[in-house]
Amino acid sequence: MSILGELGQRFRPLLTELVDDPDPLLDLVRPSQDPALGDYQANFAMPLGKRLGRPPRQLAQQLAAALAEDPMCHPPEVAGPGFINLRLRNSWIGQRLAQAAADPRLGIPRVENPRTYVVDYSSPNVAKPMHVGHIRSTVIGDCLCRVLRFLGHRVISDNHIGDWGTQFGMIIYGWRHFLDEEAYRREPVAELARLYRLVRRLIDYHEAKSRRADVTEQLAQQEAALEANRRAAGPQPDKRTAKMLRRMEATLARTRQQLEELDRTITQTETDPALARLLDAHRDVARAVLNETAKLHAGDEENRRLWRQFLPACLEEIESLYRRLGVSFDHTLGESFYHDRLEAIVQELLDRGVARESDGAVCVFLEGYDTPMLIRKRDGAFLYATTDLATLRYRMDTWNPDAILYVVDFRQSLHFQQLFATARRMGLDKVELVHVSFGTVMGEDGRPFRTREGDTVGLEGLLDEAVRRAARVVAGNDDAKPDGPELSPAERARIAEVVGIGALKYADLSQNRTSDYQFSYDKMLAMNGNTGTYMQYAYARVRSIFRKGNVDVEALRRDPAPVRLETPAERALGLELLRFGEALELTLKDYRPNQLTGYLFGLANHYSTFYEQCPVLKAEAPELRRSRLLLCDLTARTIQKGLELLGIDVVEKM
Ligand code: ARG
Repeated sequence: MSILGELGQRFRPLLTELVDDPDPLLDLVRPSQDPALGDYQANFAMPLGKRLGRPPRQLAQQLAAALAEDPMCHPPEVAGPGFINLRLRNSWIGQRLAQAAADPRLGIPRVENPRTYVVDYSSPNVAKPMHVGHIRSTVIGDCLCRVLRFLGHRVISDNHIGDWGTQFGMIIYGWRHFLDEEAYRREPVAELARLYRLVRRLIDYHEAKSRRADVTEQLAQQEAALEANRRAAGPQPDKRTAKMLRRMEATLARTRQQLEELDRTITQTETDPALARLLDAHRDVARAVLNETAKLHAGDEENRRLWRQFLPACLEEIESLYRRLGVSFDHTLGESFYHDRLEAIVQELLDRGVARESDGAVCVFLEGYDTPMLIRKRDGAFLYATTDLATLRYRMDTWNPDAILYVVDFRQSLHFQQLFATARRMGLDKVELVHVSFGTVMGEDGRPFRTREGDTVGLEGLLDEAVRRAARVVAGNDDAKPDGPELSPAERARIAEVVGIGALKYADLSQNRTSDYQFSYDKMLAMNGNTGTYMQYAYARVRSIFRKGNVDVEALRRDPAPVRLETPAERALGLELLRFGEALELTLKDYRPNQLTGYLFGLANHYSTFYEQCPVLKAEAPELRRSRLLLCDLTARTIQKGLELLGIDVVEKM
């Protein structure tokens, strides 16, 4: 249990005597903002006083009295209107640290009431190149699984790959018309990706052509309307009119931009010699692709055969990425797995009166939404939402989870809101359904991250580049060592892989997941600041002390003496080490891995201060040396465990 949890336990019985629901009040026990006042602060006396109609200070004093003689903290002090300031006893901290040192779990117990979680993450659409957005889902989901498991929950990870969508219609179409057999034999996935891109571009071209007329007309209308309104408003429009004009201008600018984008697509395609000659012959490509997809879904033998032929290569491609990222899944039940269950889920929704027919289609109408959720089109085709409902039904029937986490891009928010609302109406009201959403990865130009060619960045190339740059950092570091370089080329290469991939993951995990973040190799590989590279370096630096001092770590851990915390730096580090459990609880509270990275960064900073101020190998007395070595060892192990829970490896030398 975390320190916060233990403090909560002390107050809980007292609060339960006063109110029915102590939990919201217990949330008001928090780490103190100002260490001069104490380590923790309980702020519940004020709201409690209001509720009970009693003076908060008096209440605070009464509650504080219960901790007057507690081995955990000094007698609390009541300050101001009724803040209870809590300071932990050094003896207690020291003892807890000794316990943590002897425990492979670092003193973090498993939760008393484990829950079952299904975590849906990564979930790329296969046969399309995976892009940088998928890295977010993959690393955030993987981290949440690791933390949940470590705390003792039952976790079922499920990669809900898109293996049944229109991209296969595109590839089948491409296969029929543009296949380069030789290239396919050599590199099947690359050739399939080429076919996909080729067909995609043909479709985009014809769509741009047909939309262009509409958008041009729209633009003319908007221009005319703006002009007329400007004229009517005169030279000095009032506030409301000015606001309206500004809004119209913004709309106009957007339409102009749209038109420019369409024109860009059109010229780029027409000036590409390989594409230009195909345009006329493949006017109908979009309809034909839908048709191939429909045939695949309907069981057409030839299309099924092609799909079965393509799929293994596509899966192997993403598997190799997962191996490199150190990510694995309990299940990979993609969209195709649910194909046979779609009919039944639509029927179930109709039977329960959750869905109804409308214009030949089947829809779920939900209060508070402008558009219903479409689950079967008029032509009988099923949709993304239908598959997700069948998936939900399957997961509930198979695993009966307490919670399902969907780690997916924020752009799908509406989809998940409607999915969850529908689930409630299906009677699934106990399961916690969470869209763990995340923002976009931006380039240094502040726009979604793309390569020079304008494609979104492929994941494989991204990893290679991170590792290549990490190799430079590692080499530079090693060359600059006072006693000369100590790493062989093979060691350097292995370390670069760990550091490069670690930096990439950490950069992603350390962001507030709901905001967009800017992708920068330089920033993620910086040796200073809140980066994976800095954390790995911090770890290696602590570990080097043990090599230098020839310390038998195992013996140290087997028989840990109570840790001494006489100086402020030692005490601060010791206390921070005990807060690991708190950081993990916070991470799960709103499913935010940046709570864990923030904690680790803080820990590394406390360690730096300690290391500057407190000699370790040269400590004045053997007892002090042992105590400080224990702090070092715990720091290294906490960093290592923390990084492991983020899905990041450590290296002993760097
Ligand atoms: N394949 C989808 C995409 O790449 C993500 C699927 C997320 N999971 C789900 N159950 N909808 O956009």
